[in-house]
Amino acid sequence: MASASSIAANIASKTKTKKKHFVAQKVKLFRASDPLLSVLMWGVNHSINELSHVQIPIMLMPDDFKAYSKIKVDNHLFNKENMPSHFKFKEYCPLVFRNLRERFGIDDQDFSNSLTRSAPLNSDAQGRSGARFHTSYDKRYVIKIISSEDVAEMHNILKKYHQFIVECHGNTLLPQFLGMYRLTVDGDETYMIVTRNVFSHRLSVYKKYDLKGSTVAREASDKEKAKELPTYKDNDFINDGMKICIDGENKKMFLEKLKKDVEVRGFALSSSFPRILGCNFSLKLMDYSLLVGIHDVERAEQEEVESEDNEPEEEGESDGGGIGTPPDSPSNTLDSTKPLGPGEFDPAIDVYAIKSNDNATKKEIYFMAIIDILQHYDAKKKAAHAAKTVKHGAGAEISTVNPEQYSKRFYDFITTILS
Ligand SMILES: *[C@@H]1O[C@H](CO)[C@@H](O)[C@H](O)[C@H]1NC(C)=O
Ligand SMILES: *[C@@H]1O[C@H](CO)[C@@H](O)[C@H](O)[C@H]1NC(C)=O
Repeated sequence: MASASSIAANIASKTKTKKKHFVAQKVKLFRASDPLLSVLMWGVNHSINELSHVQIPIMLMPDDFKAYSKIKVDNHLFNKENMPSHFKFKEYCPLVFRNLRERFGIDDQDFSNSLTRSAPLNSDAQGRSGARFHTSYDKRYVIKIISSEDVAEMHNILKKYHQFIVECHGNTLLPQFLGMYRLTVDGDETYMIVTRNVFSHRLSVYKKYDLKGSTVAREASDKEKAKELPTYKDNDFINDGMKICIDGENKKMFLEKLKKDVEVRGFALSSSFPRILGCNFSLKLMDYSLLVGIHDVERAEQEEVESEDNEPEEEGESDGGGIGTPPDSPSNTLDSTKPLGPGEFDPAIDVYAIKSNDNATKKEIYFMAIIDILQHYDAKKKAAHAAKTVKHGAGAEISTVNPEQYSKRFYDFITTILS
C-alpha cells in the first residue's frame, strides 16, 4: 500500500521536477543490481539502528579507534532475490565515525536513508581512473571500494584526522570520512569507505579537473577525453585558460582552509605523514589532488529545457532534478520546504560549493575539495609509474619532491588558479 508520504513524494516529483515520475516502492527492500550493494544497504541500516541504541559517550576513548562491530548472517531468507543468503558485515570504529558524521553536520538517520532508500548508483565522476565508485542514490555521498592497506592506513591516521576535524570544527577541504566497512560475500572481502560527495547532489558538473600542481604527465589521455565527463588535469586547465572566479572573501576563506589542510604542522598531508605511518619515506609521493567541478548555470538551464522537449517521460537519473528523488522524498531536508532555483544551493548540503563572482564571464558554481589522501594502497603502482617517468626522462620533478615540497607546490599552484 502507498503511504501518505510516498504519495506526497509522487506529487512533489511531478510538480517540482515535471518530467519525472517515479513509482513509489511499496515494500522496503534492499534491491540492487549488485548483491554487494544490497549487503551494504542492509549493513548500513543495521549499523545505524544499532548505534541509535548506543549512548553517545562524553568523549571518545583510545580503544574506540581500534574498535569494530561485526555481524554474520546465515540463511537469510527475506528478500532472497536481492540478498545473498550468507554474508558478513563489519563496521570499523563505529563510534568514531558516528562522531565524525555529527561534526560534519550529518544526521545518522539521514545518512542511513541516503544509503538505503534506493540502491547506490554507479559513478565514474570522481577519483582516479580504474577506482570503483558509487554515489548514494541522492548523490550526497560517495562510496569507494578500497584495499585492506587503505583500511590499515585509515586506522593509522584516524586519531590525527579526528583531532584535526575537532580543531577545525569540521571546516575542511579534506575528505569527510563518514563510515568504513568490510563486506564478505561468497568468502570475498570487500572494503568500502563513504565520504561526502565533493560535487552537488543536484547541480550537474559539466567539466572537472584533478589538480596536483605538477606539470609532469598532467594532461588527460585521449581515452579519458572520450568519456562523457573526462577528468582533465593541470596542463589542460592551463591550456583551457581556466580561472576560478570567486570573490575576495570566498577566496580568502578557501585559501585559509586549504593552507591549514596541507600545512606542515597539520594533519597528514605533510612531513608528519611518514612518521605517523612508520613506512618508507622514499615511497611517499604526496599525490593528493584538488578535485574541481564546474557547474554552468545557463548551460544547465538550457539542458533542462532540451531534456524536457526530447524525453518527457524519461526517468532520468543523472541530472539536476534531485528534489523529489526516488523512491520517496526525504522528509528532513530543506529541499522540501524551500525549492531552489537555477544555480542555487543549500550550503549545509553542498558544503564545497562556491559561486562565481560578478565579474566572471559565465555564471558558474565551483565545487572544490582535496581527494585521494590515502596513498599507501597504490604505492607499488606509483613506484612503477615513477620508474616509467624516469625512463622517459621526465622523472626529476616527481622523484625529488618530498611531502613538504609537494604541499607547497600544491598550495602555490592552487593560489594561481583563483582570480
Ligand atoms: C532495517 O533495520 C531495522 C532495525 O534493525 C529492521 O527492523 C528493518 O527490517 C531493516 N530493514 C530492512 C529492509 O531490512
Ligand atoms: C570586478 O571588477 C572591478 C573592475 O575591474 C573590480 O573593481 C571589482 O573588485 C571586481 N569585483 C570582484 C567581485 O572581483
